Amino acid sequence: MKKYEIGLIGLSVMGQNLTLNIARNHSIAVYNRTKSKIRNFMENKVQNQNVKATYELEEFVSSLKKPRKIMLMIKAGKPVDLVIDSLLPYLEKDDIIIDGGNSHFEDTNRRLKNLNEKGIRYLGVGISGGEYGALHGPSIMPGGNENAYAEVSDIMENAAARTEKGACVSYLGPRSAGHYVKMIHNGIEYGIMEVLAEIYDYMRKVMQLKPVEMGNIFAKWNQEFDSYLVEITAKIMQKDDPKTGRKLIDLILDKAKHKGTGKWSVQSALDLGTAIPTINAGVNARLMSAIKTERVENSAQFASSSRPVVNKEELLPLLKSALYFASVIAYAEGFKLLKTASNEYEYNLNYKEIARIWEDGCIIRSGLLEPIQAAFAEDMQLNSLITARQFKSQLNAAADKIDKLITTAAQAGVPLTAIHSALDYFNSLKAKELPANLIQAQRDFFGAHTYQRRDQEGTFHTEWE
Ligand SMILES: NC(=O)c1ccc[n+]([C@@H]2O[C@H](COP(=O)([O-])OP(=O)(O)OC[C@H]3O[C@@H](n4cnc5c(N)ncnc54)[C@H](OP(=O)(O)O)[C@@H]3O)[C@@H](O)[C@H]2O)c1
Repeated sequence: MKKYEIGLIGLSVMGQNLTLNIARNHSIAVYNRTKSKIRNFMENKVQNQNVKATYELEEFVSSLKKPRKIMLMIKAGKPVDLVIDSLLPYLEKDDIIIDGGNSHFEDTNRRLKNLNEKGIRYLGVGISGGEYGALHGPSIMPGGNENAYAEVSDIMENAAARTEKGACVSYLGPRSAGHYVKMIHNGIEYGIMEVLAEIYDYMRKVMQLKPVEMGNIFAKWNQEFDSYLVEITAKIMQKDDPKTGRKLIDLILDKAKHKGTGKWSVQSALDLGTAIPTINAGVNARLMSAIKTERVENSAQFASSSRPVVNKEELLPLLKSALYFASVIAYAEGFKLLKTASNEYEYNLNYKEIARIWEDGCIIRSGLLEPIQAAFAEDMQLNSLITARQFKSQLNAAADKIDKLITTAAQAGVPLTAIHSALDYFNSLKAKELPANLIQAQRDFFGAHTYQRRDQEGTFHTEWE
């Protein structure tokens, strides 16, 4: 019986497309809990002899070459544990399970430890690029047992997106390193998406621009930014609704959902004591958007703000600067958190390599990743991208221009939370003096928490009254 190089469980949108992608170069057996999905997939999507459908787990496992390589593309959380448990009776020592879903990094640590104790090798692999990327080449972020990665690296490299620097995949580190990096990738994605949403909001409410005009502006800017998120924003602005003939963006409800990776990034940042306010603003903005009914009710109780008189030609360069500035800061926050996590969890991350594999295939691919790689090539231990030669003076110049946007947005009642957070992050990170002396004094006043002094070593307490 022919034995297949790799197996994949989970034939939803990502699993189907990844199977078709892998099958261009490798033989692959597939399985899915709901059998009708397997049949539909084989009948409607597969035209390649490299794909074998299996309808029982035992049949699936026995169709694979040893050591078996099994990729899971299933819903993150409990389903991953259930599927691993159901596979275990059929697996042997040295077989490899690859979790390609958006699993929480702590779940990946737990699963890897449990499986390694049973002699099964484990890879936690972040995959970005959505359904298009899965089919045409995603950015792949693997972590876990390094010797297991060596045995699947050819399959991963053939499936991944590719730039002139190579395949957009690289072994990132032990245990949950891959899933951690993917989580932060998504956190940065939340931040940049919100920055774009705020610029759109400003353009429509303060500058009274129409979607077509905004689309043209985003498209023009993107000749410089070369950013996937800016590119799709430009395209979204131009899209007509076939039913009404109106611009579709005007008909879409202003309530955004989220699946968890942004929230997990913020939770992890808090656990590690590292601030990521621009990314946090992206998460908070989705939470605020979700309470639409309350917002609508509240809006009736407040007079609408008067629109400030603005000069379009003067404001557009400021908005472009804000997009540059806040996008760089979102990356800077993400990389700083990666550095903290790498130290804490001993991932030994290579930040230049992470920026390289994000250059294509993934949602946060952009022209900024080239100078980010250059910055880490010059100093791998860089504390923050804000001090890198590639960004320092540009950030400073852009920061100066953001003030006017923030003032006019506030006059018009338009929240620019992510842009404002990025500016505050920059100002805090380069502030010689912050007002935490007062915080220390307050804590000591009400809780006898003690404080440190500038002029003497030691810990002090004062009877304040
Ligand atoms: N969609 C994206 O753009 C994207 C991008 C990057 C990463 N991801 C990640 O990739 C993974 C797959 O995503 P997706 O959107 O293709 O699918 P999904 O909706 O997250 O998951 C659906 C798949 O999980 C299976 N499943 C759910 N519960 C199960 C259980 N208890 N036992 C066995 N199988 C179970 C489903 O099987 P049935 O058909 O039997 O229900 C189906 O194959 C997820 O972790 C997701 O977060 C998605």
